[in-house]
Amino acid sequence: MKEKSLKIGVEIDPPTGKLGVLIPGIGGAVSTTLIAGTELVRRGLAEPVGSLTQLGTIRLGKRFENRSPLIKDFVPIAKIEDLVFGGWDIYEANGYEASLYARVLNREHIDPIKDYLSSIKPMQGVFDRKFVKNLDGTYVKSTPSLRERVELLKEDIAGFKSRNGLSRCVMIWCGSTEIHQKPDRIHESLEALREAIDKNDPRIAPSMLYALAALESGIPFINGAPNLTIDVPAMVELANTRGVPVAGKDFKTGQTLMKTILAPGLKSRMLGLEGWYSTNILGNRDGLVLDDADSFKTKEESKLSVLEYILQPHLYPTLYKNYYHKVTINYYPPRGDNKEGWDCIDIFGWLGYPMQIKVDFLCRDSILAAPLILDLVLFTDLAKRAGMSGIQEWLSFYFKSPMVKENLYPEHDLSIQSMKLKNTLRYLMGEEQITHFGLDYYMSGEQDPAKSGL
Ligand SMILES: NC(=O)c1ccc[n+]([C@@H]2O[C@H](COP(=O)([O-])OP(=O)(O)OC[C@H]3O[C@@H](n4cnc5c(N)ncnc54)[C@H](O)[C@@H]3O)[C@@H](O)[C@H]2O)c1
Repeated sequence: MKEKSLKIGVEIDPPTGKLGVLIPGIGGAVSTTLIAGTELVRRGLAEPVGSLTQLGTIRLGKRFENRSPLIKDFVPIAKIEDLVFGGWDIYEANGYEASLYARVLNREHIDPIKDYLSSIKPMQGVFDRKFVKNLDGTYVKSTPSLRERVELLKEDIAGFKSRNGLSRCVMIWCGSTEIHQKPDRIHESLEALREAIDKNDPRIAPSMLYALAALESGIPFINGAPNLTIDVPAMVELANTRGVPVAGKDFKTGQTLMKTILAPGLKSRMLGLEGWYSTNILGNRDGLVLDDADSFKTKEESKLSVLEYILQPHLYPTLYKNYYHKVTINYYPPRGDNKEGWDCIDIFGWLGYPMQIKVDFLCRDSILAAPLILDLVLFTDLAKRAGMSGIQEWLSFYFKSPMVKENLYPEHDLSIQSMKLKNTLRYLMGEEQITHFGLDYYMSGEQDPAKSGL
């Protein structure tokens, strides 16, 4: 990182020129909702609700200073007018057809931008049905060689960049959830990974080929699914050596978002937990993919880990030692993208008396995910221009399973994640960290806060 000092901030290259947003899975529900939504916002036809970069403010300095600029005015992030979308899918549908198929947005939002959406045409994906059993994509690159697939993806990236006159790109995986994979010997080092690719090792998932193509092209990679992809030492090594940021994994949107808001609150109050039963019904293509047990296992692991880290049963055995946690997702086509997530939470209070909390979140999966992607793209591009590389833990705010450095546990508490993110922005811009300590306002003895000097 081009660091000067904690106080002075970091040198950040300006966001000059156009920023390419490369999306594997560009024909999916989340991607099309992002692309259509961004265009509607650009045309002044809708508001970017849910996006911290577009609507959020950041407090600077002491509370009496009343300095709370918009984040987009405070840090030099790219303007949404400068974003150019492109990517790959395993189905040929253009952005308009894919938006209709996704059934997330109404015609009143899709039709006014039909021409724009129709112009978004996917590039042929790299796919292996072994990793996503419930899809049978036909629009795929035919070469069986994994190395050649990476090279073809790199050619796609270079072509997209030059065709659109882009100054830089970010890649974000919005493709399907792949089957569950554990880190293996082949993921331990870059050398081992490259050797496995050259030998067409069957353990290399398509998402890894995209990530490799991005990182080898010097392009940041963000993982929106719970797939292993970049969450292995080999990819982190590559990101660090190429000076490229990576972030992941699995967008934190519906039920898990609620869980990471509620659970820290219960724990702060030292309320115990007997059990947390979570179930979902979902009827979109993501739901269909997750109907396969191997893909669901990847998602399940991502969803289950949250409570364990937040509640820290090893530190609070009286409250959390034996709680029962169950998460299921059931594919139910009539609901489409409008997922319903139920939580039945059995807690206990003073002297062990039981209580219950019920949450029924009638959410819209892609409506919740789209603004996260926009923010992640803009912040990751900022990180790259600030000379940051490797794992971007400060972006944990957006993920169910935040990537962290080896030997660190992930931070899941949404309010801590938000503080971490904002303090990173303050750090980048040379502003004081805000700890919410607060005693300093009372300690100086000075009655006029403006003169307190603290
Ligand atoms: N929507 C949410 O709230 C949310 C939250 C967390 C994670 N996610 C994850 O985001 C991803 C996208 O979700 P979605 O609802 O848009 O799903 P979707 O099924 O609508 O879209 C996924 C797209 O990826 C394509 N695809 C699959 N394999 C590919 C490959 N190898 N190369 C290129 N394209 C490929 C599919 O054809 C499909 O168009 C999923 O992995 C999902 O689990 C979504």
